[in-house]
Amino acid sequence: MASTQLVGIDIGDTSLRGVEVSGIGGKRPNVVRYFSMPIPSGAVRNGEVIEINTVSAALKQLWSAARFSSKEVVLGVGNSKVLVRDLTVPKLNYQEIRESLPTHVQEMLPVPVADALLDFYPASEAMAEAGPVVNGLLVAAIKDPVLANVKAVQLAGLTPVAVDLIPFALTRLTPPSRLVGNVAHIDIGAKTTNVIVTSNGVPQFVRIIGNGGNDLTTALAERMGIPESEAESLKRTIGLGGAAVAAENNQAVGIIREVTGTFLTSLRNTLGFFASSRQNEPFAGIILSGGGAQLSGLADALSEMTRIPVALMDTFANVDVARDAARGTQSQFGMNIALGLALGGAA
Ligand SMILES: Nc1ncnc2c1ncn2[C@@H]1O[C@H](COP(=O)(O)OP(=O)(O)OP(=O)(O)O)[C@@H](O)[C@H]1O
Ligand SMILES: [Mg+2]
Repeated sequence: MASTQLVGIDIGDTSLRGVEVSGIGGKRPNVVRYFSMPIPSGAVRNGEVIEINTVSAALKQLWSAARFSSKEVVLGVGNSKVLVRDLTVPKLNYQEIRESLPTHVQEMLPVPVADALLDFYPASEAMAEAGPVVNGLLVAAIKDPVLANVKAVQLAGLTPVAVDLIPFALTRLTPPSRLVGNVAHIDIGAKTTNVIVTSNGVPQFVRIIGNGGNDLTTALAERMGIPESEAESLKRTIGLGGAAVAAENNQAVGIIREVTGTFLTSLRNTLGFFASSRQNEPFAGIILSGGGAQLSGLADALSEMTRIPVALMDTFANVDVARDAARGTQSQFGMNIALGLALGGAA
């Protein structure tokens, strides 16, 4: 890829975020600018752009507010409709493997091959009876929603140079020294939770779950008969409740604990599924990110349930950050996916 300065864009359900990075592919990439702004409700659903014009206008605003200098961008895909599966193929070069994918995958896909975008991420090599093979991850995304995202970006005058799977972005942010053994990276968004397991830094397993922090808000609003905005602030204030819960919050805490309990159980089962496919190799750790992970008490509850140490993601641990990278009151929180997408842009 020619350019080494790119903007990674994370089009989330609640926020639009961009991170501009120079020196991508070099020893120590440098974050030049980063910026986040809220996205009008309904414009994006589960990571799919629904209102192309609204999102394109928001992107133009993002570019002028952030003063990004590059117009070359990396986009992410990732929602529960994206299929990621283990696939073993004969050992060929990457281009040949990609070209051979349609012949391997039709029976795995819910749509005709022609309607899907296919990609392959090698994880390991092995020797089979018929010769050398590559084990890896097949990624299949339905074309239409991806094309809507690409169109919104192009309408804003930007050039998408790559489209990457969002969970992979999560694996590029932590220094390799902290990725020894099996590590689960879990990003809990508003509507989507991305899970990716790496072994010594190499992606092995991906699950994109259609649940996130908004489930709590919706459950509180519906069951308590209160507006969503009130439910949202109640959730942020009381979290999982801790030790002392005021009597008036008993009902809310009960709902939050119940919904979170179901969610954590499904995360535990997901990790258990990976472990059981690997002779129960243990996990060295979980790296947690996303707005939904801010729920107070959640990291501890996840650690208790899985018996795996949990750390919050240190977004900029693997990069340098320019002194004036943050404009205004921008926080580095939530920039992880946009940054990880940019860092993968030189691949
Ligand atoms: N302090 C907090 N306590 C609990 N939940 C929080 C807190 N702050 C943010 N959230 C929740 O985080 C979620 C938003 O997270 P995030 O910004 O990562 O989502 P997104 O990237 O816009 O969405 P998605 O990734 O699903 O497309 C919302 O459900 C919000 O309620
Ligand atoms: Mg997100």
